[in-house]
Amino acid sequence: MNRSLKNVLIGSFGGGNNTAAGAGSGKDQGHVKEISLADAAVVMAYANKVMIVPGYGLAVAQAQHACHELEKMLQERGVEVKYAIHPVAGRMPGHMNVLLAEADVSYEKLQEMEQANEEFPTTDVVLVLGANDVVNPAAKRDTASPIYGMPILEVEAAKTVIVNKRSMKPGYAGIENELFFEPKTSMLFGDAKKVLQDLIGEIKNL
Ligand code: TAP
Repeated sequence: MNRSLKNVLIGSFGGGNNTAAGAGSGKDQGHVKEISLADAAVVMAYANKVMIVPGYGLAVAQAQHACHELEKMLQERGVEVKYAIHPVAGRMPGHMNVLLAEADVSYEKLQEMEQANEEFPTTDVVLVLGANDVVNPAAKRDTASPIYGMPILEVEAAKTVIVNKRSMKPGYAGIENELFFEPKTSMLFGDAKKVLQDLIGEIKNL
């Protein structure tokens, strides 16, 4: 069922038209649950293992340095922190690796998709930072979806998922994401850099 990455990149979806209306299938997706900065900080600070999923929004926000700060701070508290890197996260090949390298994130902390998918079932918290299509379970479940067959980061296998983005608008593929409506998912709305800086502030005070 998997589509090749080339197929995904030059496929029929996309165009970056981020209109919320008309983005989804039209079916009632249920409710979205929000989490406060304070609660998100506690959930991560007391976790054993946190996986960070960076996406295009992290690049737009230039949040890679703040992300590295958060990673170091969690690690100092004894939390194991890794990054799950999807091969087409962002807008060009290697986008996430370049950004994180720029912020001095250790290469050993970067997990490629297959490795990351093996680790999610033993992960307490996944923090999705400005990623959308690359964590959309429709790629596995919905044969009518334009991204059906695209390999994804299976973040829903983790215990808790926190998703940071600014709104409910779709990503590049222009489709809704059921992950955001799942009971284990909480949304942490805001610009990625600002949210990360605020999380760092909250964790400092714990
Ligand atoms: P996307 O699916 O595009 O999602 C990025 C999300 O970031 C958006 O939903 C957006 O939501 C959020 N965002 C934007 N600015 C933000 C900010 N300042 N702070 C926080 N969030 C922000 O990205 P992805 O998951 O990385 O997937 C990549 C997509 O691009 C795939 O569909 C892929 O096929 C395609 N693509 C990739 C490549 C390569 S080679 N990497 C090339 C061409 C196309 P809000 O607007 O709600 O904030």
